[in-house]
Amino acid sequence: MALRIGIVGMGGIGNRHAEVYTQDALSEVVAVCDIIVERADTAAEKYDAEGFYSVQEMLDSGIELDACSMCTAGKENGGDHYVPTMELLGAGLPVLGEKPISNEVEKGREMVALAKEKSLPYAIDLNHRFTPAALLARKWVDEGRLGRLHIVNMTMWINNPNETSPWFHLRALHPHSIDVMRYFCGPVKSVQAFMMKGAGRTIWSNAQVNMLFENNVVGHLTGSYDAGGSYGLERCEVVGSKGRFVLEDACEELTFYSRQSIEKETYHYLGGMRSFGETFASRIHRWLEQLTEGAKPEEIDGSGADGLAVQEVIEAAIRSFETHTVVEL
Ligand SMILES: NC(=O)c1ccc[n+]([C@@H]2O[C@H](COP(=O)([O-])OP(=O)(O)OC[C@H]3O[C@@H](n4cnc5c(N)ncnc54)[C@H](O)[C@@H]3O)[C@@H](O)[C@H]2O)c1
Repeated sequence: MALRIGIVGMGGIGNRHAEVYTQDALSEVVAVCDIIVERADTAAEKYDAEGFYSVQEMLDSGIELDACSMCTAGKENGGDHYVPTMELLGAGLPVLGEKPISNEVEKGREMVALAKEKSLPYAIDLNHRFTPAALLARKWVDEGRLGRLHIVNMTMWINNPNETSPWFHLRALHPHSIDVMRYFCGPVKSVQAFMMKGAGRTIWSNAQVNMLFENNVVGHLTGSYDAGGSYGLERCEVVGSKGRFVLEDACEELTFYSRQSIEKETYHYLGGMRSFGETFASRIHRWLEQLTEGAKPEEIDGSGADGLAVQEVIEAAIRSFETHTVVEL
């Protein structure tokens, strides 16, 4: 039976989730919720679902839900996530939240703790690595094709003129990049960052962040909101004792380079995935698969705990920059 899904926050991204759930055979959208009446009403009609104007109203209605997507935004794109997420988890519902888990790390910790206390699946939409290319690259890492991992270099940059907070670029964009780095190289233990304001900007729109991972991999993140155009979206390079790979634009091109040979192995658009936009469907499908299979909360891929871990790295980078020191996690 298809899972009955409720979606909270019907902006552009909530609607994207709704389209994906509607098209996935594992789910149907039964409820949509927004504090803006018009957005809730329009979505209710579009997805043939019941519309609500608050989470509490949705929960009080007694509508049967199996899980919810939480797609609010707020300050630094995460300031509104805490209250509705706590309401949904408090009511015993599995939640797939948008990133950042919260712009305030302490609130993120509370959200993860509540999901754990109630043994609920809690996931974050860290969609960039839910691609066939990233899966193959991860298989190479797990099988030892790269040998011992040494270095990870990650670049993620877009054109975003938003000037609403000094840390907007770090907190809103880099949950994605750091999640990709952690996916291949594991947990981070030390962080050091420099940042600068791009031409005409008031926020820290460019960042260079060094990371030491628990397995002693040395990593570097280049991030910018002053990019776009021909720069592409992202590039991840993982280097090991036997070989390295470069993953371009999440799903578009994956190349393996052997340390012993000049031959290269390149895949374009693995699995037929053409561009980043398609990762909403692949990420949400994985969430639905895991719910359907009854995965344990600690088995959830791209979990709330992962969403919290990347935010801890971001806060460490901010502290490092402010204090000119290396910050231990
Ligand atoms: N995963 C990705 O690749 C990706 C890409 C872009 C944006 N995002 C994230 O998606 C989220 C949403 O982005 P958006 O552009 O759709 O934002 P938006 O501001 O357009 O929409 C958010 C909606 O949430 C509603 N809302 C706020 N508080 C609410 C509450 N308590 N109950 C019900 N509704 C509430 C608002 O009225 C608004 O309609 C952000 O967290 C953003 O960071 C993720």
